[in-house]
Amino acid sequence: MSDIVTRLASREDLPRIKEIAVASPWTKHVTHISYCHSGRFDNGEVTVAEVNGAIVGFVIAHRRRQTHDVKIDMISVSADAGRSGVGRALVESLGGETLVLNVAKENAVAQAFYARVGFARRGESRDGTCWVMRRRGWRTLF
Ligand SMILES: CC(C)(COP(=O)(O)OP(=O)(O)OC[C@H]1O[C@@H](n2cnc3c(N)ncnc32)[C@H](O)[C@@H]1OP(=O)(O)O)[C@@H](O)C(=O)NCCC(=O)NCCS
Repeated sequence: MSDIVTRLASREDLPRIKEIAVASPWTKHVTHISYCHSGRFDNGEVTVAEVNGAIVGFVIAHRRRQTHDVKIDMISVSADAGRSGVGRALVESLGGETLVLNVAKENAVAQAFYARVGFARRGESRDGTCWVMRRRGWRTLF
């Protein structure tokens, strides 16, 4: 695949972000306001990956105030761009922070992906439906 470029998203990117997300049962809830309200874009919490100028994936993540780590809220790559390094590029775009996320226990593909890019299981969510995974950062601010 051609070069993958990541950049912060703007609100104009939202239609394409939604298009990618709703195509997967694991990310179709992107339309919920908590994922794509304008503050997410203003705060630089949404990053897109492009190939040949077209958006092929995105990640939404935010820094947690109390723990100072970065929580990945959602990541999704369009099916036709899958397994070509886009997901990895999106994770790496978050830099050397400690990264945390919840992944559904039934989402085996995402778990394999996260394990491959350096995450390890740390426990499970309160409701027991997700694994909590973490990747320790090399740039720890606190
Ligand atoms: C999970 C997802 C983001 C991975 O994105 P991707 O662009 O296909 O991943 P990459 O190509 O960057 O793969 C990175 C590594 O993970 C591995 N990987 C990716 N998909 C995999 C799979 N289905 N099975 C096993 N390993 C997999 C790759 O082999 C690669 O390892 P390598 O570098 O040694 O080759 C993508 O499958 C997706 O969008 N899924 C639907 C949405 C979703 O489930 N999001 C997560 C919700 S928590």
